[in-house]
Amino acid sequence: PLEVICRNVAAGTMAKRLGIEEGEKLPRSIVEFCLKRDDLGDPLIAEEHIYAFGWASQAELDEMIAMTLRINDYLQGMFAGIGIKLIDFKLEFGRLEHPDGLGGHMSVLADEISPDSCRLWDRETDKKLDKDRFRRDLGEVTEAYTEVATRLGILKANPSSANISV
Ligand code: TYD
Repeated sequence: PLEVICRNVAAGTMAKRLGIEEGEKLPRSIVEFCLKRDDLGDPLIAEEHIYAFGWASQAELDEMIAMTLRINDYLQGMFAGIGIKLIDFKLEFGRLEHPDGLGGHMSVLADEISPDSCRLWDRETDKKLDKDRFRRDLGEVTEAYTEVATRLGILKANPSSANISV
């Protein structure tokens, strides 16, 4: 399967790779592809690799990019409404034989959206409200996840719920 990363603001490996300061807004949303191979560390690949090795056709890739950008637009708006910036997120796509039986394939989105696979920063303070709190040992992991869930209206604003939400 292919991993697609959509970025609005430079962070993580992209900021490092291109020498961009973390937090810098990108000129536009950027879609990147990684090969989902744990043993290789999910390497970044070019569209050329995808076509040459037949991992997806141009039509499938176009569909993945269109879906990813649509999801990005939707999520950016949704999070903006609760004072959160969507820095980047990751989606995974698999492939199924097309049900029309003509021998083609179709891409299938197979993933979830959560603070484990997105970067979410508070709009006012840039406080990280995502898995980077865990990855970078920043503490307050449960509090941050609870904050996102509370702002989304999924959890009631009740501090004791933080203890049972894991
Ligand atoms: P990225 O900046 O490439 O990697 P890292 O998290 O190692 O700095 O990650 C971009 C976004 O994609 C980020 O929100 C985390 C998410 N992601 C995953 O959820 N799983 C993964 O395997 C990878 C590579 C990224």
